[in-house]
Amino acid sequence: MLEPQTIANPLREGMRVARAPEPASIIIFGATGDLARRKLVPALYNLARENYMPPVFNIIGFARKPRTDAAMRAEYKQAVAEFSREKIQAETWDSFDENIFYVQSNLDDPDGYKRLKQELERFDQERGTLGNRLFYLAVPPELMPEIVEMLGKAELNTSAGYTRIILEKPFGRDLTSALDLNHRLHQVFDESQIYRIDHYLGKEAVQNLFVFRFANGILEPIWNRTYINNVQITVAETVGVETRGEYYDHAGALRDIIQNHALQLLAVTTMEPPPVFGPDQVRNEKAQVLRAIRPLDFNEIARATLRGQYGAGAIGGLQVPGYRTEPEVDAASVTETYVALKLHIDNWRWAGVPFYLRTGKRLPKRMTEIAVEFNLPPLSLFGKNGVNPLEPNTLVFNIQPDEGITLKIESKIPGQDNRIRPVNMDFRYNSAFGQVAPEAYERLLLDAMLGDPMLFTRYDEVEAQWAVITPILEAWRNIPAPAFPNYEAGVWGPAAADEFIKRDGRKWRRL
Ligand code: BG6
Repeated sequence: MLEPQTIANPLREGMRVARAPEPASIIIFGATGDLARRKLVPALYNLARENYMPPVFNIIGFARKPRTDAAMRAEYKQAVAEFSREKIQAETWDSFDENIFYVQSNLDDPDGYKRLKQELERFDQERGTLGNRLFYLAVPPELMPEIVEMLGKAELNTSAGYTRIILEKPFGRDLTSALDLNHRLHQVFDESQIYRIDHYLGKEAVQNLFVFRFANGILEPIWNRTYINNVQITVAETVGVETRGEYYDHAGALRDIIQNHALQLLAVTTMEPPPVFGPDQVRNEKAQVLRAIRPLDFNEIARATLRGQYGAGAIGGLQVPGYRTEPEVDAASVTETYVALKLHIDNWRWAGVPFYLRTGKRLPKRMTEIAVEFNLPPLSLFGKNGVNPLEPNTLVFNIQPDEGITLKIESKIPGQDNRIRPVNMDFRYNSAFGQVAPEAYERLLLDAMLGDPMLFTRYDEVEAQWAVITPILEAWRNIPAPAFPNYEAGVWGPAAADEFIKRDGRKWRRL
């Protein structure tokens, strides 16, 4: 058998054997949509550029709009030129482009699925894709059950090779719809075929969180309630809702970021060490800790949650409109674009430690971090009488944009007197490795082709996440929203956010 590196295909030159996927067809539902253009096709292109695509592959767009193969190729070329992290190269594009095809069909038309199946079988025979199929559902959650059912009816849930299905987030709208979607999925696919995406798990710095926690001995004894005082998780964005007003106005920040990305960051930070670094073991531990998050009851929700919505303001010196005047957003919308939450994890490791989560659009900086704050020393020898009060040690995982890890420690200021000040011990990816990390979607698409589900969320994780979020959504429906807008674009959320955390004698980190 040929070693992958020796196959005469320019795309395969330098292929790393350990990450070599088998030939496959990748079928994108929602092929003409935003996600395919901005993320999926640029990610596949970059995988090809770095010799990570299979030796033979087809990318088949499946959508309602009429297109020829040529038109789909031209559209994707433009998308890659616009959104790829690396500049498009003519040669790589040409050998990539010829693998793109299009099947036009309504999503509920059995004939369309029949044609898709015929095409897939033809490709298997003519191009040697071995019956391996990866379906990607880049469509809104309400369309997913029907597509899944149609795939089942067309017997596209099984083949001579592997059949896998990736589902884009959001996975349902609440606990009931997520349970229903899982149920319908399980009628057609085995859980081992299902890949629910949360692209934050594909971020390099999130993967490093596993390594940092479980490959370093110094953390093990201190990673618990005895030493950790509180944890703050921030997902701050400068962007507004861009072209996604319609989706966002029905979602809101709680569904869009907290239910998935923020809770996954929380899970990776707080999970127990798995016995083995494998997909089942890691996901068992994440599911376990997510289930231990204490659900908020109706009365607590008023105190432990806070919502905001941006009005007009300025970001980086540019005037930007308020949320209610964004395209396709209801002019009287009460959808939240900012959320702060306080959660507790009811297990022995974390009992009593508050977890503060916040996210918002149109905040002053794009910044995602997890800040773990440790207790102060038991007795303060320095900084007495309120002069130079000690600041707690804080370990910060900078997820983006400037990936790294920072430990804040107290230090003596050089000189004759005994003044102290916090300083940072810093690790930055850029300076340490000098290498650009792949985009999250690249990592995840490759993992799915390789059949590694570790960085995808399992059904029980998604359900546990919704079990935390759904009572909040329900309570918010019954408690009138604050007078929106309550923060102007370009500030760190509503004024009440400071009060929210000050009640606990704490403050938000200044980012
Ligand atoms: C998506 C949300 O899941 O994540 C968007 O739907 C958000 O609203 C995006 O902007 C943020 O992702 P990233 O990778 O830019 O932090």
